Amino acid sequence: MLSRKVADQLRNYRTPFYLYDIDLLRQTLQSAVSVAERYQYVIHYAIKANYDPRILQVIQEYGLGIDCASGNEVRCAIEAGFDPQTIVYAGVGKRDHEIRYAIEQGIFAINCESIEELEVINAFAAEAGKVVTVALRINPDIDPKTNHCIDTGQADSKFGISYEEVLGSAERIQALQNVRIRGMHLHIGSQIRELHVFEYLCNKVNVIVENLVKLGFELDFVDVGGGLGINYDFPENEPVPNFASVFSIINSHLRVGERQVHFEFGRAIVAQCGELITGVLFNKMTATGRKLVIVDASMTELIRPMLYGAYHNIENITSTSDRHERYTIVGTACESTDVFDENINLPETRRGDLLTIKSAGAYGSSMASRYNQHDLPPSVYSDQL
Ligand code: LLP
Repeated sequence: MLSRKVADQLRNYRTPFYLYDIDLLRQTLQSAVSVAERYQYVIHYAIKANYDPRILQVIQEYGLGIDCASGNEVRCAIEAGFDPQTIVYAGVGKRDHEIRYAIEQGIFAINCESIEELEVINAFAAEAGKVVTVALRINPDIDPKTNHCIDTGQADSKFGISYEEVLGSAERIQALQNVRIRGMHLHIGSQIRELHVFEYLCNKVNVIVENLVKLGFELDFVDVGGGLGINYDFPENEPVPNFASVFSIINSHLRVGERQVHFEFGRAIVAQCGELITGVLFNKMTATGRKLVIVDASMTELIRPMLYGAYHNIENITSTSDRHERYTIVGTACESTDVFDENINLPETRRGDLLTIKSAGAYGSSMASRYNQHDLPPSVYSDQL
């Protein structure tokens, strides 16, 4: 863990802040890219996971495209220098100006999530005198065996179009003159650790692609989304996620002929390279005997524990004490749910100590808010310490 090695230098920065290990980010990208090359897979980085400019710059060096969830994310990617032809854009609720912007920029594909949206894209494309490349995001009804808060591909989810609806609307879809359906898109959820789930996904995709082709759809690519999980429990044991496993599963089970296969990884690329460094403000004990450590970060810097009950490993990187205690780590926000973790074992922890909240590179800073008028968290990079 980088923070432990550089704990003394971290004292020079005002807490809380995100610490990014750029070497680890590079190792992760290198691993993803080198295995993807073996199968000629295309990777788009899900920019919602972290859009820190420095992180984007490094990601760009490795030739990844971008997966976006809003018009502003598309803009951010383009401004960061990504080629629009490597950008895909999904989202159940794309607003008119966002659709128009994506059309104007000529991105690789708009991943369309309802038949009504498809008709709107078609109308806007006609107005712009363009034919727009679209992928249909299909809901495959698969349980990704992850935290229910972050699954997206079960039948009742708001995401994607039901397969049955696509089958029933095929003629209506094919009559649209200004959209070209070139791809199929699926994303079943995030933080998937039971990788056999991707096998089920492939089995469904194989059937769907075969039937869509029979109905006359000319598909050039299949985008199987992101979702590869990381090890939050023991990040040191698995700093680089297992891209080889997921690619090998997809390669063994996906039967889509010569069609290009795309991925949209967010968490797996950036989670482990980021730590939230926070300083201890105060200790106190509740009337019930709970020992609270009040840190200067809060749900405004990292909301995952409060929003999903997500676990992040926490360590005291400056205490030299041999005595251990059970502490509950709470933040500064004016919310009772502002608790990072409860009853965890740490060496004796005092005002002025630094804690690291690990595996926070994904959906940490990108979900930060200014509640209580907190400042947004700054970034510190390993190669600029
Ligand atoms: N593609 C689509 C269409 C997505 O909706 C997502 C994530 C991804 C790709 C990237 O998924 P990943 O590889 O990162 O699992 N804030 C939550 C996670 C929300 C994920 C939203 N969609 C969290 O902190 O766990």
